[in-house]
Amino acid sequence: MANFYPDELISEIVNANDIVSLVSSYVSLKKSGSGYMGCCPFHREKTPSFHVSGDKQLYHCFGCGAGGSVIQFVMAAENLDFPDAVKLLAERAGISLPEMGHSKDEADEFYKRKRRIYEMNRDAARFFREVLLAPEGKKALDYLTGRGLSMKTITSFGLGASPDSWDSLLKRLLSLGYERDLIVESGLCIRNEKNHVYDRYRNRVMYPIIDTRGNVVGFGGRKLEGDGAKYINSPESIVYNKSKTLYALNFAKKSTHNYLILTEGYMDVISLHQAGFTSAIAGCGTALTQDQARLAAKHSKNIYLCYDSDEAGQKAAKKAIELFSPLECNVRVLKVPDGKDPDEFIRKHGSVAFENLLTSARATTRYEIDSIMAKYDLDDIAQKVEFSREVALLLAKLKSAVEQDEYIKYISLKANMSSDALLSEIKKLRRRTLKNEETSLMKRTSGVQTAPTAAKKSQQRLKKAECGLLATLLSERTAFEKLSGNVSEDLFTYEFHREIYRKASEMYESGSAFGITELSHLFVGREGEFSEVFLQTAEIADVKTAAADYIKVIKEETLNVQIAEATASGNVNLLSELLKKQKSLKG
Ligand code: CTP
Ligand code: MN
Repeated sequence: MANFYPDELISEIVNANDIVSLVSSYVSLKKSGSGYMGCCPFHREKTPSFHVSGDKQLYHCFGCGAGGSVIQFVMAAENLDFPDAVKLLAERAGISLPEMGHSKDEADEFYKRKRRIYEMNRDAARFFREVLLAPEGKKALDYLTGRGLSMKTITSFGLGASPDSWDSLLKRLLSLGYERDLIVESGLCIRNEKNHVYDRYRNRVMYPIIDTRGNVVGFGGRKLEGDGAKYINSPESIVYNKSKTLYALNFAKKSTHNYLILTEGYMDVISLHQAGFTSAIAGCGTALTQDQARLAAKHSKNIYLCYDSDEAGQKAAKKAIELFSPLECNVRVLKVPDGKDPDEFIRKHGSVAFENLLTSARATTRYEIDSIMAKYDLDDIAQKVEFSREVALLLAKLKSAVEQDEYIKYISLKANMSSDALLSEIKKLRRRTLKNEETSLMKRTSGVQTAPTAAKKSQQRLKKAECGLLATLLSERTAFEKLSGNVSEDLFTYEFHREIYRKASEMYESGSAFGITELSHLFVGREGEFSEVFLQTAEIADVKTAAADYIKVIKEETLNVQIAEATASGNVNLLSELLKKQKSLKG
């Protein structure tokens, strides 16, 4: 998203919020070296790998790679977009945001409208609840209690009912002073071609959708009887982005459970919560998106997929597995027996039975093997061959040999084929992919084969020194000034470091505000990588000595890495040249 605010203002807001005190209100931090450490709020961990630096005003988790300035922290912790994060920080620091943006009035108007729609949605939720508890809501209330929900659950989820009328809500909202256009924009009412405005939801049970800050962003309305869609959902609006919202995440994030249960429906979630599974969540009437998966993974790395057992549900589960696969989650698939959805299951069999389902949930690999197996007729030899290929493809991706071995045993037992045959299929695949990767790998990290540890150490020292040099250069404007004579872009071997150096030089030349925070704004979307660079180094006592030390290490280790590469590739001429260079550097 384009910067909504001028850079100066963002800097002012960032500088007015100390990262240590901000993060402390979410995470308990302990002093460590020149900074602070704690357990990362963005992934589950027992040993702290989350660093916060007061000097640099950055955080970085060496466990999950999250990082950035106060802005990224608030965005991640509160699930906000950039402008909202800036706004929250401005409020926190008591900085009033003058109207600005594309045009001053537009930005101001935008926020006003957003606030008004939040209020309107809240008033609508209140209205639906009144209706539910009034005589006209009896049918809806009977329906909900008939489905096993207690009054307590109904209240805590803010459930309600829309009356069987075309304009009850409209009238209420107008009487509360909301303008017709805004009512239509919120999605609560619809305007037809004849310019007539009417209620979107009629005679339905209403499920408010609440974001993690407690704002009502939309509704799902389930029909009670008769024709019409089973659900009518709010359209997207300036307050509601469906692909980034998860139903009940506002509750689940407060749950003490260290896992999330991802289900398909509102009712599944509510039933599960009532039965004590307080970390159940669902999408909002759309198929799961990559953003939603990421959002879920941020809250817990242990994900249970609990989808309906019908074909559509199983297809959705498969898709979900794909979406979670790059997120390094421990994903398990929970199979609800007898074609039931979780809601029905829990009502029939109770929470202990559901707990058992959780315990026996299969890791995704087992689940995938079973789904592949189900596709083939294993009595047919040709199909069995195909099956072994497809399943080998899956197993070849596993990193752990032990895990692989376990699954080979499992398959050979279930599909009645020898472990050796399967293993040789996997090896065939491995050889093929290895060949492909080899060439590119050689280029990037060659030298590793001959002297793995020494070369690796050199790489690590080199990386650390480059990071240290960058941190020194950026510690203040005068540091950059003092050192610029001794440093150039090609001193750095990592492309990302070169880019940082380039942009820092530009920033320096332009004469604008200079510093790590300012620079971080130029690395939108790569904040984690960026903060990692700057959180490698401890305090800098003297800029000149520190820089000289780093430069020395960089030169030495760059050579070492090159030497290892030349050795590995057997390039004797290059090697002797490099060794000469090394001698002169030492001497
Ligand atoms: N859904 C929707 N529109 C529909 C049907 C379903 O938006 N016409 C969404 C809703 O978010 C719903 C979810 O898909 O919660 C799952 O659908 P389904 O299993 O049919 O509904 P349930 O939530 O199980 O509802 P109920 O148990 O009340 O039938
Ligand atoms: Mn259902």
